[in-house]
Amino acid sequence: VTDADVVTLGTEGQKGTRVRVWGRVHTVRKQSQLVFVVLRASDKKLQCLFSGQLAKTYDILTLTPETCLEVFGEMRSVPSGQKAPDDRELIVDYYEISGKAPEGDDSFATRIPLDPKTGEVRSDDKEAFYDIRHLVLRTELASSLMRVRSATKKAFRQVYQELDIEEADPPALVQTQCEGGSTLFEFDYYGQKAYLTQSSQLYLETLLPSLGDCYCIEKSFRAEKSLTRRHLSEYLHVEAELDFIQFTDLLAHIEHIICRVIDILMAQPAIKSIIEKLHPEFKPPQRPFMRMKYAEAIDWLRDEGILTDEGKPHEFGDDIAEAAERRMTDKIGKPILLTHFPGPIKSFYMPPDAADPRVTESVDVLMPGVGEIVGGSMRIYDYEQIIAAYKRDGFTQKEIESYFWYTDQRKYGGSPHGGYGLGLERFIAWLCKQHTVRETTMYPRYMGRCKP
Ligand code: 4AD
Ligand code: MG
Repeated sequence: VTDADVVTLGTEGQKGTRVRVWGRVHTVRKQSQLVFVVLRASDKKLQCLFSGQLAKTYDILTLTPETCLEVFGEMRSVPSGQKAPDDRELIVDYYEISGKAPEGDDSFATRIPLDPKTGEVRSDDKEAFYDIRHLVLRTELASSLMRVRSATKKAFRQVYQELDIEEADPPALVQTQCEGGSTLFEFDYYGQKAYLTQSSQLYLETLLPSLGDCYCIEKSFRAEKSLTRRHLSEYLHVEAELDFIQFTDLLAHIEHIICRVIDILMAQPAIKSIIEKLHPEFKPPQRPFMRMKYAEAIDWLRDEGILTDEGKPHEFGDDIAEAAERRMTDKIGKPILLTHFPGPIKSFYMPPDAADPRVTESVDVLMPGVGEIVGGSMRIYDYEQIIAAYKRDGFTQKEIESYFWYTDQRKYGGSPHGGYGLGLERFIAWLCKQHTVRETTMYPRYMGRCKP
């Protein structure tokens, strides 16, 4: 029985050779004297035919989905008129079960019922499905999204490499905030107050004088106190910082990164076919993206009669809330670089625009279906200006002191620089047309959920 080539499911190829493959039972179909089993290993599937004595063994007669087994046998093309993945099947002559899956109430099919119409997982009770996310991850949609996620991370790294931008890994445990105190996760750090990082930006900035342009793909944490379809407590943040640039360079860079990542993904047949299946009308975005200033967006929202969350017409200075932003983006239907937000609704480190000091050199990238996927800006690099910015933002003297390391960047040779952060889950939700970012992450964390 060991006289067989061990092959990875999906690569067994040649007809006539005896092979040994392993996988998990995807489906079982019994037909008179025959048992057809489709084995699954990652995204590959192989039909295995059990006949004769093998089809009468207890294990095969009671075989359940998700059981893990090894099969030995010869490959052949399926007889014409029959259907099987890739039109081939394995004629099994021996098998071994490594792990059985239960039958009845505890069976995989009972715990994860398939919609008889679509053959997809029924998602009518999301919370219950997130409780068994470890099992849901085995299903088609979840595994496709995990595959796209893996490919997307690789693609970002590839693009940064093409641009000669170095990867860094800033700390996750910090004592200063980057994006406002209201979403900080605080914890006790050997008797001192500390936080889970909201963004690696400030740390990346400190690396510019040593490493030059740099990026990181690290977790960021936000204590978001509401449940929305695009907010997680823990998310993967793709962030980059670029030295000696102007605002227009930053905008061009962000467009390039997004378009190039999409090109790399669409050049991979397996990934392309997932995207096309999940998002049939997807078209890679064309450069240049539409550019819109915040002030124009406010006018647009007023003209369209889209109100603020408080039910009032938008005024210059208002934050554009999630609902209004998404309505605008969906209506426009293509990526938007929304720029020049007023200082008071943005972070302390964003510099005023020289031409109109009411607004900052800031940008959000908005995508149909999701809204904001990127937030970026130029950074204040003058010492006096950053001190004034801390004060304007209401930092206490003690808090200002805790930013000594960030302030020192301005003391020791400030340079015009800027950067951005992209939420990977939102990027994938847009690309694969998912209603919520929860589906695009392995084990979503949001208010009320920290398991499994
Ligand atoms: O707009 P944000 O808050 O910007 C920053 O954190 C900057 N310091 C980034 C930088 O310039 N390096 O967040 C950036 C992006 C958002 O556009 C969004 O895609 C994502 O991070 N994001 C979230 N994704 C999921 N859940 C959340 N709670 C998120 N908060 C932000
Ligand atoms: Mg933002």
